[in-house]
Amino acid sequence: MNANRHRLIVVSNRLPLVFHRESSGAWRVDAGSGGLVSALLPVLRHRGGTWIGWPGTSDACAELDPILTRTSAQAGFALHAVHLTAEEVQDFYHGFSNEVIWPLFHDLQPLCNFDPKYWRGYCGVNRKFAQVIMRNSNQEDFVWVHDYHLMNIAQDLRHLGCGSRIGFFLHIPFPPPDLFLKLPWCRNLIEALLEYELVGFQTLRDRRNFAECVKAVLENSQIVGRGQIVTAFAGAKRVRIGVFPIGIDFNDFLRQTATPQVAAKAKELHTLLPNRRLVLGVERLDYTKGIPHRLNAFENLLTRYPDLKEKISLIQVVIPSRVGIPDYDDLKTSIEQTVGRINGAFVRPGGWVPVWYVYGSLTRIELLAYYRAADIALVTPLKDGMNLVAKEYCACSMEEDCVLILSEFAGAAAQLDSGALLVNPFDIEGVADAIVHAYEMDAAERSGRMRRLRRSIRKYDVFWWVDSFLSAAFTKQLSDFPLPADYAADSVEDYFAPD
Ligand code: UDP
Ligand code: G6P
Repeated sequence: MNANRHRLIVVSNRLPLVFHRESSGAWRVDAGSGGLVSALLPVLRHRGGTWIGWPGTSDACAELDPILTRTSAQAGFALHAVHLTAEEVQDFYHGFSNEVIWPLFHDLQPLCNFDPKYWRGYCGVNRKFAQVIMRNSNQEDFVWVHDYHLMNIAQDLRHLGCGSRIGFFLHIPFPPPDLFLKLPWCRNLIEALLEYELVGFQTLRDRRNFAECVKAVLENSQIVGRGQIVTAFAGAKRVRIGVFPIGIDFNDFLRQTATPQVAAKAKELHTLLPNRRLVLGVERLDYTKGIPHRLNAFENLLTRYPDLKEKISLIQVVIPSRVGIPDYDDLKTSIEQTVGRINGAFVRPGGWVPVWYVYGSLTRIELLAYYRAADIALVTPLKDGMNLVAKEYCACSMEEDCVLILSEFAGAAAQLDSGALLVNPFDIEGVADAIVHAYEMDAAERSGRMRRLRRSIRKYDVFWWVDSFLSAAFTKQLSDFPLPADYAADSVEDYFAPD
């Protein structure tokens, strides 16, 4: 069956636009942040279809629909809002999604708040999404649900009589059974996920964890097969589960980074921070991103390698995220105190500042200028589904002379290990040593590594990801699905064999 014949209905918690009511009463519309929006926007622009999600506010919702209709006409795909009340936002989004699933799935169970009302909020909002999907789709469409906020949707859609094919992709990691089984609703979630026809994960480790959880939770279930797609059998259910590492729109990053506006902005940065190597960290304000650990590593570098003072600066860009959730607000304070401490200890009055801290969302030109200006990217999450910043940075290294330092706990590590310097983000001295390694690396090694990285990121881009998910969803026989002949190991490297 040809996947291209079917309209794509993308469903995610967020629409790509976030609406805020200004004090004047007018609406401000911002671009959504984070990897999910970055990855799906080029897909919808390219293929067309429909995007269903929450517009980011619980304020005066009916007024937003005409704005979304106008925006749809410009965007080339349809946007439909799922409106949520303030209480739903609290229990479903802040509560179950971001105080239960997000920390649990990133191995941070002590941060979880297993409040039963959060689960009720989650179930209610998933049902609400299902109703909006029913109103805006038909049997021939392919409904593709994204991420941890919406794991129940296939079950809810089936209850409403939906006959469409439904797939699910998890953008974040999936935890092993010893963590997952702590969730009071673990069985409900496994049963709900097995209502999809295809469930996709970023890495083999996530897929393996999911398979172990299915077996732990459902007696008489089994997982059959090996390779990129396997099948879960549970009672009468038969569900495909696969590995689809997400990519970026490489060519678009390359095209935009080559513009004079980006070059001018990058030059501005070099003028502000002259005569030194620039190390870049850029991410949402999130405790999974390891920002305090990274700052400590940079401080350790300046202490153990004093010769590097005045020759290197860290630019740390922090993008506001999930404001109002206490763990996020506390993290902001702690990051700012650490930056203050490091700058206070090492700054040269009137001259070099060790850490250049920026808090705020960036325009695309600003982001690309940071990527272009930085000699080294320090991407050190404690745990991450994929990490698109790592891939975007490499795509923008047009001269192939930059170095990527990457956490071994980012999903991207499985693909990028042959070119990046892999580090354990908890190992402060190890990260400091990796910065020195990057600083001292000769041009030939830098370009060899970056060339390998860019070749892989270009080949396995976001369009490869969509095509591989859709062909898995629409291929009748698993044997039709191309698998690397020697595929066996518990790693995704085999997908990324060099040309
Ligand atoms: N990004 C953004 N706003 C900004 C700066 C960056 O949305 O002001 C994007 C960035 O380009 C990247 C995404 O945020 O595509 C971050 O994705 P990643 O997978 O690295 O992490 P996530 O935020 O999804 O956890
Ligand atoms: C991660 C999640 C996305 C989420 C994004 C931004 O990338 O996987 O689902 O949209 O973070 O977080 P937010 O809570 O602002 O949607």
